[in-house]
Amino acid sequence: MSTTSSDELGTEQEPIEFPQLRPSLFELPVAYKELRDRCPVAHAEFPNGTRGWLLTRYDDVKALTRDRRFSARTDAPGFPQIYKGQVLPELANRSIVAMDPPDHSDQRRLISQFFTLKVAESYREAIGGFVDELIDRMLEMERPVDLVEQLALPLPIWVICHLLGIPLENRDLITERTNVRLSYTSTQDEVATATRELQAYIGELIEEKRSAPADDLTTKIVADHDAGLISHGDLVDMIQLLIIAGHETTAHSISLSIVALLSHPEQLEELRANQALLAPAVEELLRYTSISQTTVPRVAQEDVEISGQVIATGQGVRALVCSANHDPAVFDDPEGFSIHRDARQHMAFGFGIHNCIGQTYARIEMQEAIWRIFNRLPGLRLAVPVEKLDVKWEAGVHGLHSLPVTW
Ligand code: HEM
Repeated sequence: MSTTSSDELGTEQEPIEFPQLRPSLFELPVAYKELRDRCPVAHAEFPNGTRGWLLTRYDDVKALTRDRRFSARTDAPGFPQIYKGQVLPELANRSIVAMDPPDHSDQRRLISQFFTLKVAESYREAIGGFVDELIDRMLEMERPVDLVEQLALPLPIWVICHLLGIPLENRDLITERTNVRLSYTSTQDEVATATRELQAYIGELIEEKRSAPADDLTTKIVADHDAGLISHGDLVDMIQLLIIAGHETTAHSISLSIVALLSHPEQLEELRANQALLAPAVEELLRYTSISQTTVPRVAQEDVEISGQVIATGQGVRALVCSANHDPAVFDDPEGFSIHRDARQHMAFGFGIHNCIGQTYARIEMQEAIWRIFNRLPGLRLAVPVEKLDVKWEAGVHGLHSLPVTW
């Protein structure tokens, strides 16, 4: 990976180190506020020494996600990696999230029928039923109970396993490998091993579906592969992406949402009494918690001017959706939490052609989990002070290792 010198970047500003850490659970890194105010297109240094840019304002982040002059390809020189060192070729992300049109649109089209609102809504009852089952199990347990282990993580894993037709007994395998992949602190060797193991499992799953087709997404794209519509490598990468993107994100959104609501007891009481507030509350929780800390990464394919700064061909950019979600130009009192705010324009699911395909499921899972937890366990409370929670401070997806609760 080539590095770009400060002069080539055309700025005298000392590069800001990326990623930056949050000072507390719901606060964004302090530097983002200053950058939004004074330096919205900021010179940055990424962990492997590559230099590029950070975008922190809502309008700039949104504009970048819609701008076809930026590529999502992680193999483009200058791509702003968050892993340390050179990226091993086998670790390069070649799934749709790292593709440009027309490959991106061709492959996204193959799976989009599984993610429509109608199909996702058809799972709502089963999702609600599974949440109830998990709560029933929790009620039998000795308290405190870890809500991450008992509910926030099993729920999205169950959904992604159903969608892909993965037997539930393999869920630990996919959870552990994903954890390694998403941690800033994993070494390249650890990430490489986890990736190879996950890919080996996906290879077995593909063979299973070929010999015993079922009504699931994996069977559908295996048939697309056999019809010559997608290569074997792209098929494996697609399933891997869905596994990785589909579960930790939603799990962390659920557990952080529970903490956010418990920290605002008056709003929680209002919500519990009025189901009409549930959908808007979930949008505000997505905005307020803003778990995607490092997306959206792109590389300029030609010189592009953003907010007066030229981003030259080949330079990397990270347009921070978390910072956009806390931009006072769009959200009044952005650090405040209010379920009465119209937060629908948040960018927690990205924007443009790469917007989150799984957002339909994520919303339903969050809504069903939050509603049922607080109504079935009205006395729910944290078993440790907020400051003592075991937070994943160093991860691309913000979240909790555990969430001890009692009631
Ligand atoms: C609250 C939970 C979730 C959050 C916050 C989230 C966030 C995001 C974001 C910010 C992007 C855009 C990335 C970019 O532009 O580079 C994205 C893309 C994506 N997400 Fe999610 N996601 C969530 C849940 C899910 C679920 C449940 C699934 C699958 C079942 C999923 C699958 C995907 C896929 C496949 C993409 C790539 C889409 C493309 O490139 O066309 N996500 N997600």
